[in-house]
Amino acid sequence: MEEIEVIKPDDWHVHFRDNEVMKAVVPETTRHFARSIVMPNLIPPILNAKQAIEYKKRIEKAIPPTDSFEPLMTIYLTEQTNKEDLKSAYNIGAVFAVKLYPAGATTNSDSGVKDITKIMPVLEMMGDIGIPLLIHGEVTDQNIDIFDREKVFIDQKLDFIRREIPNLKITLEHITTKDATLYVKESNKNLAASITPHHLALNRNALFVGGVRPHNYCLPILKRENHRQYLINAATSGNPKFFLGTDTAPHFVHDKESECGCAGVFNATYCLSIIAQLFDNKGALLQLENFISTNGARHYNLNLNKEKIKLIKSTQALPFRDHLDVEGHKIKIFKPDFPLFWTVDK
Ligand code: NCD
Ligand code: ZN
Repeated sequence: MEEIEVIKPDDWHVHFRDNEVMKAVVPETTRHFARSIVMPNLIPPILNAKQAIEYKKRIEKAIPPTDSFEPLMTIYLTEQTNKEDLKSAYNIGAVFAVKLYPAGATTNSDSGVKDITKIMPVLEMMGDIGIPLLIHGEVTDQNIDIFDREKVFIDQKLDFIRREIPNLKITLEHITTKDATLYVKESNKNLAASITPHHLALNRNALFVGGVRPHNYCLPILKRENHRQYLINAATSGNPKFFLGTDTAPHFVHDKESECGCAGVFNATYCLSIIAQLFDNKGALLQLENFISTNGARHYNLNLNKEKIKLIKSTQALPFRDHLDVEGHKIKIFKPDFPLFWTVDK
């Protein structure tokens, strides 16, 4: 039996939702992670300090008493976000970072930003005082091919923001392309990127294996195999600009298996097993701790976690739980199309 010990990891991008779903999904994350950045795309979205503080309290109630876990809260940037309100929300510690969704880019993003120039004064203030900007990096123009939307966002929007405000700390979230990987690598130290387990595990063929596969549908959409290879190389390289953000995004099975199925993959349950397996397959287990536990904390100027976790490789492939049950409704748990031998020792 093989085992490795690493600093307890953090998940830099989660969707906890609210109410009964939140109660069901929070323990799937807090079991393994010390901290998470919590996305604000509730309906209605988290827009200010008061809403962030209340949401944080609801999350804290859902953390099992055996787990020690810190939710790091975000607010949802709109063209109406007030600079002074945001500054004081950050200064009192109610808000850790700000999320930019281009309007209509993904699930619950209708109140997002349509015109980047309208938010530049807020972004300048964020650069000056050090509030991180988290970006869903896809354009929303329906005339742009869905597989190109990340690259076009980088060329048309991100590059503009970075040139105007080079001191702004930015995370390009859930990157999916060679283009994003290279752009981030070549940029200054203020730009980093998170990568999800599903974008590391699957390419776009997984959307159409013998038929349409709604449970592999997420945004940004899965890309070609050569892009996945770039993501794997970035994640396993040890480069401090790349770290884990699972983008665990629960939806009910009936909402995904529908005429217009929701985007999002619920991967919290086996995400560390998946990542460890991919690193093992690549012969890169020595870089695992950088990707899941240290690179992100350093990007966000946070202390490294004191606790450690142990990952164990067994000789038998892991049995999978298929779904979570929330008051009779199912949330499908993501599993990749290859066997997993790594588990977190608990
Ligand atoms: C996310 C969700 O369901 O909230 N969906 C997704 O496909 N990733 C939103 C997001 O992060 O884009
Ligand atoms: Zn997300």
